[in-house]
Parts: sequence; C-alpha cells; structure tokens
Amino acid sequence: MNLSTKLISRIFLGLLFSSTVLAAPDINAGKESASVCFNCHGAEGNSTNSNFPTLAGQKPAYLANQLRAFRDGQRDNAMMKNIASSLSNKDINNF
Ligand code: HEC
Repeated sequence: MNLSTKLISRIFLGLLFSSTVLAAPDINAGKESASVCFNCHGAEGNSTNSNFPTLAGQKPAYLANQLRAFRDGQRDNAMMKNIASSLSNKDINNF
C-alpha cells in the first residue's frame, strides 16, 4: 500500500469511527488505533477476505456496540475479543 492510500484510509476510518460519538472524540487517537484494524478488515474497512467483515459504511453506533460486546463477552469471537479487550470506552469512542 503506498503512502497516500494509507493516509486516505486512515483519514477515512478516523472519520468513520469518530463521527458517531457524542463525547468529543480524539480523532488523531482514533486514527492511530484504527490502523491495526486494516490488517484484517481491509484498507478503508473494505474487506477483500470473506473471513473478515467489511466495516466501511457500517453505522458508527453499531460498530461501537459490537466492539463493546466483543470486549464484554456478549459477542463471542476469539480474534475480536483479543483486540477489543485492550480498548477502553474512551478508545472505542475515539474510533
Ligand atoms: C486479527 C484480525 C482482526 C483484527 C486485527 C480486527 N478484527 Fe474486527 N473482526 C475480525 C473477525 C474475524 C470478525 C468477525 C467476527 C464474527 O464473525 O463474529 C470481526 C468483526 C468485527 C466487527 C463486527 C462487524 C459486524 O459486521 O458485526 C467490528 C465492529 C470489528 N471487527 C471492528 C474492529 C476494529 C475497530 C478493529 C481494530 C481495533 C478490528 N476489528 C481489528 C477480525 C479482526
């Protein structure tokens, strides 16, 4: 992935995740944390692998709820539990 694609993806996901939240999100922090998600969920959240759901276009409130559900064990998936367990509510809101 070249640098500009990478930057565009980060900005896109930063906006995607941050536009949801009621508490003022830290967009830069959100962009930093979202970069790890691209490894599985694809650039800009557009997955090319059917094992990983596409996140792009999903409602931000839905994404935040799913992240909390993975973290708190209401939704069971080993990979996402691993990822989400290190996220605080503030981290999730920053996405
Ligand atoms: C190691 C690979 C991997 C990484 C890294 C990863 N995910 Fe996931 N994610 C998955 C898989 C696999 C699923 C599907 C889980 C299922 O089927 O229940 C998933 C599901 C999700 C869902 C639910 C989507 C839906 O349609 O219900 C959300 C939201 C999500 N991930 C967000 C994130 C975020 C945000 C990050 C970065 C902090 C991230 N993921 C990083 C593998 C990953």
